[in-house]
Amino acid sequence: MGEIRDKTVWVTGASSGIGRALALRLARHNNFVIASARRRETLVELQKCAPSRIQILDCDVADDNAMAAVPARLNEFSDHLDMVIACAGTCEYDNDLQLESAMYRRVFDANFFGVINTLRIALPLLSVSPAPIFAALGSLSSVVPFPRAEAYGSSKAALDYFLASVRADSCHTNLKVVCIRPGFVDTPLTARNDFDMPFLISPERAAIYIESGLSKGKSVIDFPRRLSWPLRFFGFFRFIWFRFCTPRISRIRTLRKN
Ligand SMILES: NC(=O)c1ccc[n+]([C@@H]2O[C@H](COP(=O)([O-])OP(=O)(O)OC[C@H]3O[C@@H](n4cnc5c(N)ncnc54)[C@H](OP(=O)(O)O)[C@@H]3O)[C@@H](O)[C@H]2O)c1
Repeated sequence: MGEIRDKTVWVTGASSGIGRALALRLARHNNFVIASARRRETLVELQKCAPSRIQILDCDVADDNAMAAVPARLNEFSDHLDMVIACAGTCEYDNDLQLESAMYRRVFDANFFGVINTLRIALPLLSVSPAPIFAALGSLSSVVPFPRAEAYGSSKAALDYFLASVRADSCHTNLKVVCIRPGFVDTPLTARNDFDMPFLISPERAAIYIESGLSKGKSVIDFPRRLSWPLRFFGFFRFIWFRFCTPRISRIRTLRKN
């Protein structure tokens, strides 16, 4: 498995789950990690694991106004960024097609607009690096439409498109744009799930896949293969997905009347 070494990396969503495991792994590999999330006290605990390699920058990526102060704080730590990995995100399901727009906005604020805010702030510092990388956490759920995932899956599908569009726009530059699409990872985010999660992996395993994919220069990092390949097959032959799979997963039997 490839390794990333001696880089300056900003990891958002680093207080928990995949982002935390990534921050620790990158710090172990002699990278300088700027770790972000909203819960400062959790970041302080993370920093204690590698005080000389991890600095903390608490911020809410979904808060446009508060993010205005972040460039100056990043500059206190470094005059450049080699890599940004935007892990901050959330998941809420739409049970029974409630279609509450406030819930959809919460999910999009963190998963989609949070990544836009992160890239906007990071770009000037990335432009100083000889080989800058911007990566964000999408999801394999955007490959096929899952029941109850109208908000979460849409936010990740929108992110997929956004990242591909930025990749198209930056083709004459040295910026590498990467979409990371995990399957099920055992984190506080999935601990709330009340359904079977096939091929569930640990956050540490996810961090290995991500570091390896980034070091190999991949633009899309899907894992684990035993889940991504079947989903890609169903994504290509959607009629099979809708005919045979979604009837087994969907819980809605009748449309609600109010
Ligand atoms: N776990 C999976 O199976 C899975 C699968 C596919 C994709 N993903 C994606 O992977 C990413 C990480 O998920 P995870 O499973 O590691 O979840 P997690 O353990 O719940 O971690 C989410 C992280 O995001 C931070 N965060 C959330 N909203 C934020 C905001 N507005 N501003 C700043 N930080 C924020 C949280 O910290 P604070 O609460 O301290 O802010 C936390 O550090 C997410 O984008 C998720 O959608 C996860």
